[in-house]
Amino acid sequence: MSESWPLLEVKDLRVAIPSAGIKVYPVNGISYTVKSGEVMGIVGESGSGKSMSSYAVMRLLKDPIKVESGEVLFNGKNLLSLNKSDMEAYRGSQISMIFQDPLTCLDPVFTIGEQLTETLHAHEEISDAEARKRAVEMLRSVSIRNPEEIMHNYPYEISGGMRQRVMIAIALLCRPKLLIADEPTTALDVTTQAQILRLLKRLKKENGMSMVFITHNFGVVANICDRVSVMYGGHIVEQGMLEDIFNSPRHPYTQAILRALPKSESTKGERMETISGEPINLIDAPSGCPFNPRCPFAKDICRREYPGVTAISDTHIASCHLLAGGASDEQ
Ligand SMILES: Nc1ncnc2c1ncn2[C@@H]1O[C@H](COP(=O)(O)OP(=O)(O)OP(=O)(O)O)[C@@H](O)[C@H]1O
Ligand SMILES: [Mg+2]
Repeated sequence: MSESWPLLEVKDLRVAIPSAGIKVYPVNGISYTVKSGEVMGIVGESGSGKSMSSYAVMRLLKDPIKVESGEVLFNGKNLLSLNKSDMEAYRGSQISMIFQDPLTCLDPVFTIGEQLTETLHAHEEISDAEARKRAVEMLRSVSIRNPEEIMHNYPYEISGGMRQRVMIAIALLCRPKLLIADEPTTALDVTTQAQILRLLKRLKKENGMSMVFITHNFGVVANICDRVSVMYGGHIVEQGMLEDIFNSPRHPYTQAILRALPKSESTKGERMETISGEPINLIDAPSGCPFNPRCPFAKDICRREYPGVTAISDTHIASCHLLAGGASDEQ
C-alpha cells in the first residue's frame, strides 16, 4: 500500500448553541484523523452530534450555532481560519459533502443539469460541452438510467431517491479528496445502495478519495469503513479500526449498540436498534460521563467526572472510567 498521511485532523472540536441564556454543546470536544485513502465511519444514535460535527468541518453551521474551539486541519491547513472565499474554493472541489436531507443542497429554481454544470464551472476551467458531458457521465455512474432527460428536470420533478443520487453526483463531480457522506444511502432501495457503495469504493481505490461516512447501518460500516468513531452525547466515546470496534468493543455504549443488532446474517444490514434508557438531553446534560444514566456499570466517579482517554492498543481508544481503573474501588 502507498504511503498515507493525515488528510483531515479534527482536534478538540466544540460546537455551541446558545439557548435561553445558556450554551449547549452538541459537539463537545471531538478529535479524529482521517488518513489519505481511508474511510472513517461515524456511528451513534440520533442526536449524538454526527451531522453537526460535519457541518462544523465544512463550515456550514448556521447562526447562532458556532464552533467555540478546536481545529480542523485539511492537509495541515486550519479550515476554521480561512476567509469565506478561500473556504468556498475548498468546498465542493477538495472537500464535499452529501447531506442527510437531499433538498438541503438542491436549488428548486434550477434544473439538475444547470446545478451540475454550475458546480463544475465554479471550480474548473471547462467548456460548456465538456461540463455537460462530465455531468451526464456522473449521473450515469450514480445509477441514473436516463441522465440526458434528468438534466432537464427541476428537483421537484424527480423522486426522493433520484434527488439523493443527484446530490451524490454533485458531491463527486469535482473528484474531491475528502467526501463527508451523511447517511448517503438511507433513502435508497437496497440495490441502489449497493451500487452507490460500490461507486464510492471505486473512487476510494482509483482516486485515493478519503471519506467520513456517517451511518446507522452497521452492515454499511463493515462494508466500507477502515476505522470507526462511536459518538454519544457530543463526544467520541470509542474509536478504533473496524475490527477493534466490531470484535472487541470496550465502551459500554458500543457494547450495548452492538448487542442490540439483529443477529442473523439475513438481517445484518439493519439500522442500529435503540438501546434502553433515554437519549441525552442537551439542555439538561448529565454531569460526568454522558452515558452514566444509561450505563449498567456506572459508579460514583462516572457521575462526577468526564473520563479521560484510555489507549487500549495503538489503534484503539475509549473514554470510560472502568477502563482507566478509576471506578474499580468504588460502588
Ligand atoms: N438547528 C438546531 N438548533 C438547535 N439544536 C439543534 C439544531 N440542529 C441540531 N440540534 C441538536 O444538536 C444535537 C446534535 O444533532 P445532530 O443533527 O448533529 O445529530 P445526529 O447525530 O446527526 O442525529 P441523526 O442520526 O438523527 O441525524 C441534537 O441534540 C439536536 O437536537
Ligand atoms: Mg444527522
